[in-house]
Amino acid sequence: MSKYDNFNLMKLKLPKISDIKNKTVFVRVDYNVPLKTEVDEAGNKKIMVANDERIKASLETIKFLLKNEAIVVLASHLGRPTSAHDSELSLEPIAKYMTENLGIAVKFVKTCIGDEVETALEQCKNPENNDSPKVLLLENLRFHDEEEENNADFSKKLAKNMDVYINEAFSTTHRAHASIVGITHHLASFAGFALEKEVATFAKMMTEPKRPLVIVLGGAKISDKVGAIEHLAKIADIVLVGGAVSNSFLKADGFETYKSYIEDAPADLKKKNINYVDFACSLIEEHKTEKMLINGYIPMDKILYPIDVIAAESLDEKVAGETVLIDLLNENDQNLDKDLLYLDIGPKTIRLYQEIIEQAGTVFWNGPMGVWENSIFSKGTRKIAAAVALSGAETIIGGGDTISAVTNFGLEQQFGYVSAAGGAALDLLSGKMLPGIKPILED
Ligand code: 3PG
Repeated sequence: MSKYDNFNLMKLKLPKISDIKNKTVFVRVDYNVPLKTEVDEAGNKKIMVANDERIKASLETIKFLLKNEAIVVLASHLGRPTSAHDSELSLEPIAKYMTENLGIAVKFVKTCIGDEVETALEQCKNPENNDSPKVLLLENLRFHDEEEENNADFSKKLAKNMDVYINEAFSTTHRAHASIVGITHHLASFAGFALEKEVATFAKMMTEPKRPLVIVLGGAKISDKVGAIEHLAKIADIVLVGGAVSNSFLKADGFETYKSYIEDAPADLKKKNINYVDFACSLIEEHKTEKMLINGYIPMDKILYPIDVIAAESLDEKVAGETVLIDLLNENDQNLDKDLLYLDIGPKTIRLYQEIIEQAGTVFWNGPMGVWENSIFSKGTRKIAAAVALSGAETIIGGGDTISAVTNFGLEQQFGYVSAAGGAALDLLSGKMLPGIKPILED
């Protein structure tokens, strides 16, 4: 079986009414959302939700459960706490936010296992408390080290007093943690509706995309995209690379990259003499005979990287007047006596990528084309975002930086599908069976 035949097999178990009616349902959500601190007139600090997309994504499942008289026990991680009492990473503000802004009355429980959970559940079930919330939100799972250790005893404690498990946290399914994997050994387990939609969208893209399938990959780090690039290159008609990820490809192809950021491989890969420039080199080599026809007759290499770039000696706003446009195909631009960093794709690359995107049947985009946060280097990302949005293709975008960029450009509503997941989506696209998906597959 080839690696991506997995996608054909990814039929997830969705809960039927009979599975959840009147039951106590543990729903693993991903409420790892950005928070912001606001100070009111009296000088009191208040932690607020800065982006509620992940919370909203779980509402369909929550409403389905409530409609069927289930008791909903929501559990999530938030950030990467270093101690059990990291109050800034408490989920309490999220319970408040849901009650006040999303029309779901949520009771916060100060821990995620033990007596307090049991007492809160008893109160929910007591007919005398008919008006009390039927949704509980447990405290940050990662306040217990056992969560990330996938500890068997902790998994059992999470499952105590629950009847059914639903995974509605697609963006955490690449983590083999207790609330994602261990707990499923104790409860009948299902996929939430939003998780199912994420997986189905990616599975369709991997198995029966409307062609040509154009993949646009960028961002600063190549390490988290290596598997996805390798795998997607096999399926796609063309891969357009930008951002600092493309520096490894330029270097692999023998171009000068000056002081541009090229991510160092981690120690375990270095020991095996593997670095990301070699990775890029072998990928270019592997696909060099495959071509995509642009406008029906211009053959293009399958893996494309910039032909021109915007460079500067610093990321600083003040270098505005000192940016350099480098035409990589012009020999004269190869030996400039400067400490340059490549910070955006140039106008010829933008035009080339736009033209290819215009002809796409499906576009998947993850990772900005440059340092878009600085307006001097945002043009590449902005133009590619607009090209994807206006392409008429089926469009899927994902990754925190990509979503921040398109939101900043006011384009976030213009894409067919915006995935809530970063690392999990990239792992899935690299053809891996994710630990959190396995337990919720149809038999
Ligand atoms: C994410 O934001 O990608 C998920 O919530 C997973 O978070 P983690 O990388 O801290 O496991």
